[in-house]
Amino acid sequence: MIFTVAIDGPAAAGKGTISRAVADRFGFAHLDTGALYRAVGVKGGDPVQAAQTLTPEELARDDLRTLEAGQAASRVAVIPEVRAALLEFQRRFARRDGGAVLDGRDIGTVICPEAEVKLYVTASPEVRAHRRWLEVGGDEAEVLAQVKDRDARDMGRADAPLRPADDAIHLDTSTLSIDAAVAQVIAAVAQRLRQR
Ligand code: DC
Repeated sequence: MIFTVAIDGPAAAGKGTISRAVADRFGFAHLDTGALYRAVGVKGGDPVQAAQTLTPEELARDDLRTLEAGQAASRVAVIPEVRAALLEFQRRFARRDGGAVLDGRDIGTVICPEAEVKLYVTASPEVRAHRRWLEVGGDEAEVLAQVKDRDARDMGRADAPLRPADDAIHLDTSTLSIDAAVAQVIAAVAQRLRQR
């Protein structure tokens, strides 16, 4: 069965938690596409070459979740050749047999516009910064500044900017518990699966 759930949205909106829960519930494979850009960003050297030669070991590095890795990822993600190098892998993953959940910025718009379910998950910058700060610590005002900086770059770039697909379901998790958000997404996926 080919069935893709595309989950896009800005940093720390809850995409990762929702994606993992949906993948677990339906037995789908999950790809955190941000990890690809993070791995390219922290690898150093020429980012295009880094993207073209990315290995599973580099994707398993334990320093990919830091604020610095997020910023580095956002910077290399504006380079069209970097995005092009990562495209086929993501497309194949999305249409693999058995169902797939991908979370990122351009899944419903560029990687898999034919996805059976598309979601655009957001929350206010303050709520997202607070969540990220709980994970990484440090100065919360600095975390908020970095979240806003990354939003501006991810939404403002020319190639595959972050934006909702026309037919995406919007979910604002600012005031929604994670359990409630997961329940809504699972209901949407279950309904779409029943229509097949
Ligand atoms: O989801 P994340 O915070 O791990 O993503 C890190 C950066 O990678 C994000 O700021 C922009 C880039 N990215 C992207 O351009 N396209 C994607 N599909 C996923 C991430």
